[in-house]
Amino acid sequence: MSHGFEHRLEAELEQFIRDGVYKRLNYLDSPQAARVRMEGRGDVIILSSNNYLGLSNQPEVIAAGKAALDRWGAGTASVRFICGTFTVHRTLEAACARLVGTSASLSFVSAWNANEAVPATLLGESDIVISDQLNHASIIDAARLAKAITKCQTAVYRHADLADLEAKLTAARDRRTRLVITDGVFSMEGSIAPLPDLIEVCRRHDAVLMVDDSHATGVLGAQGRGTAEHFGLVGEVDIITSTLGKALGGAAGGFAAASAAVCDYLTQRARPQLFSNALPPTVAASALASIEYLEAHPQRVQTLRDNARYFRERLIELGFHPLPGETPIIPVILGETAAAIRMSDMLLTQGVFVTGFGFPVVPQGQARVRCQISASHTRDDLDEALAAFQQVGRELKLI
Ligand SMILES: Cc1ncc(COP(=O)(O)O)c(C=O)c1O
Repeated sequence: MSHGFEHRLEAELEQFIRDGVYKRLNYLDSPQAARVRMEGRGDVIILSSNNYLGLSNQPEVIAAGKAALDRWGAGTASVRFICGTFTVHRTLEAACARLVGTSASLSFVSAWNANEAVPATLLGESDIVISDQLNHASIIDAARLAKAITKCQTAVYRHADLADLEAKLTAARDRRTRLVITDGVFSMEGSIAPLPDLIEVCRRHDAVLMVDDSHATGVLGAQGRGTAEHFGLVGEVDIITSTLGKALGGAAGGFAAASAAVCDYLTQRARPQLFSNALPPTVAASALASIEYLEAHPQRVQTLRDNARYFRERLIELGFHPLPGETPIIPVILGETAAAIRMSDMLLTQGVFVTGFGFPVVPQGQARVRCQISASHTRDDLDEALAAFQQVGRELKLI
């Protein structure tokens, strides 16, 4: 390999360390759960996992994955349309569609892939993607990819700003298709997209609405069916993408859910689907078992909601000022990146694993520690974590 190339990367990595943005991986030697065994640290309470419903270590979910390995082997050994598609994929896709309230769905190896597939496949040169400013990186890249592949136009509207979206839609009235994309729950803020207004504006402008519900599936709505259920609007969103790698078992995978025609079109033309293997059957079966578990135990969603409310209220009582909200994502803004990293290091020393996020993941000056609550946390777990927050908060003179 070129010496100059290696040298450049090493120099940049050293700069990451100097800038305090170098990420060190924490190795776990136990399944994801309320408490995990971290190499070099012992047992820690995890407040930074998307395992919202605690299903990644659910016996039924694990058993389904094991049984699928015996039944279908390791995988498809090719792409689905060439080598055949397993029946478990069909059952999973029916379950995903049923859960989020669409007539069909198509699975992908990740929600990243699902997001990248949708605009680049469904749009053309005379179309436009209009994306919320705070959308997930996979949506930002999906818009860039669609522009590069199809030569469609792209635009960004200010976060959750309906007036700005409306202005962008008006400016794009000559476009054949206007595709508006938003996160259902914004992962760094924990805020919920203003779905009723978005649907109204999109309808008025004859625009297609796509919602990435990766942090809302299994989380919002009485039965965990996502942002649409939260607002009583199941069946009203044109395209929903979501992940199987968070609340729904946490292994991996994602899906795009929409009308039969949209899903068929994606099956015909989506490049991540046509040129890459399907989800391994073990993963598909675990995700399917997670959806079935959720459908049979909607009280898990209520436990999650109760835990999140409990943690948020106690944190405020301690004197912290988390961003207001009603989801299990509870960010505490600290300002500078170094402050967020310092706080998360101090919390880890106290046995609480919370990640600090700084620029460029979040805007400059809005670095934060982001707590994520799970249905698997007991009140003892949450109280212990809160005691650590109190101690660290006092040491840092935050409270
Ligand atoms: C909003 C959102 N969309 C998509 C993804 C990607 O999910 P996956 O891990 O399935 O690719 C994430 C994961 O962080 C996310 O938060």
